[in-house]
Amino acid sequence: MRGHDTRSKGAGVHFHTIIEPFRIKSVESIAFTTREEREARLREAGFNVFLLHANDVLIDLLTDSGTGAMSSQQWAAIMQADESYAGSRSFYRFRDVVADLTGFTHIIPTHQGRAAERILFHTVLQPGQIVPNNNHFDTTRANIEVEDAEARDLVIPEGRVPSLVHPFKGNVDLDALERLLAEHGDRVPLVMVTVTNNSGGGQPVSLENLRGVRALCDRFRKPLFLDACRFAENAWFIKTREVGQADRTPKAIAQEMFSLADGCTMSAKKDGLANIGGFLAMNNNAWAEAARNLLILTEGFPTYGGLAGYDLEAIARGLEEVVEEPYLHYRIRSTAYLGEKLVAAGVPIIQPPGGHAIYIDARALLPQIPPLEYPGIALVNALYLEAGVRGVEIGTVMFGRHPDGTETPAAMDLVRLAIPRRVYTQSHIDYVAETVAQVGRDRERLRGYRITSAPAALRHFTARFEQVS
Ligand SMILES: Cc1ncc(COP(=O)(O)O)c(C=O)c1O
Repeated sequence: MRGHDTRSKGAGVHFHTIIEPFRIKSVESIAFTTREEREARLREAGFNVFLLHANDVLIDLLTDSGTGAMSSQQWAAIMQADESYAGSRSFYRFRDVVADLTGFTHIIPTHQGRAAERILFHTVLQPGQIVPNNNHFDTTRANIEVEDAEARDLVIPEGRVPSLVHPFKGNVDLDALERLLAEHGDRVPLVMVTVTNNSGGGQPVSLENLRGVRALCDRFRKPLFLDACRFAENAWFIKTREVGQADRTPKAIAQEMFSLADGCTMSAKKDGLANIGGFLAMNNNAWAEAARNLLILTEGFPTYGGLAGYDLEAIARGLEEVVEEPYLHYRIRSTAYLGEKLVAAGVPIIQPPGGHAIYIDARALLPQIPPLEYPGIALVNALYLEAGVRGVEIGTVMFGRHPDGTETPAAMDLVRLAIPRRVYTQSHIDYVAETVAQVGRDRERLRGYRITSAPAALRHFTARFEQVS
């Protein structure tokens, strides 16, 4: 991959090519299928790629969550794990790494991110309260709403315009937050910021913005929690885009991000570089005690929280590796590289590319397919049929159905290509770009879909479709 603004150092010489910063010790075969086989598999799956067997997928870009490759050091740590029920050595190693990174007093392991959210919100929220955030991820929103509280999105206006280029499109609208705290502060028990902003396209939040949120939280005496799933990718964007940050290490930047907050929820399936796990961390003693009591009820004893000792070891090592500069350099560059190839092929994407995924604007690419005939599904299915590449629709199927049964177009019809960490090489990414470009050339031939069966809620996972003739 060619970098624009940065150069990787190799053996004392400067190179333009940014290589994968690892060599491969263990490989997993991927399955090649014929077009006829893919047509049959997709028909059997009701034209919903969620219902495919993963064995029938060649390059799987469904999600970056829990799909990363672990390092030899993580596997070695797994073999050394302590599986004691209480007080295991692996817990203390995990706790020390998280405490060094975040500075928080109480570190509570959970089986994944949404468990940390559930425990936090069930502990601190009362019905009728409001939690502001740049954009709530869907599990975060659901865990707030289940407490009869409101999840309010306050991302800057630029963060809502797909084609607009802005270095920190995940920033919080500080004026809107100030207004909310001034008018309804009594109903706000905590403020959240999601780094990077997944629902807004994996876009980062600047340190300056986080400091602004902190200042408002101090003024209105509110705790600030980070949804920290992709904290390291966010730190890299700060290093490369924010004035005065270029000479700092990603870890030092991440430590400053956490120092501005009073706690965090974390899915270790992203920047923990692990396949499962998460944690809730905070400084508030009373909240932590209540959270631990709930943890024992639903997750497990506070020194394992629903995880095996070997998961705690994998996360501890993963959190050390994820802030290494060569890793982050390659990670962010490889996502941008795919974005650049798609733009060069005339495919519209959310700009600028985020940290973990490229979002294709399917509605703009396929104007002949009305939103209620699901251009996102048409594109996802075409990518699979063309070359065995699996992405995911983020559009009208996911968001268009309302609780009263009516359906309206979602704000956007996107297709997300999420990049698993350390899994695919540059040639895999080139292949994906070629696939999208080919489908882009054939776009006039694509047709829409209609739903033949779907559950009332979260229909995108299990709905079945047929093509509109
Ligand atoms: C921003 C954000 N928050 C929370 C979560 C939930 O984490 P988990 O899937 O581990 O429950 C995710 C998962 O994708 C996420 O992207």
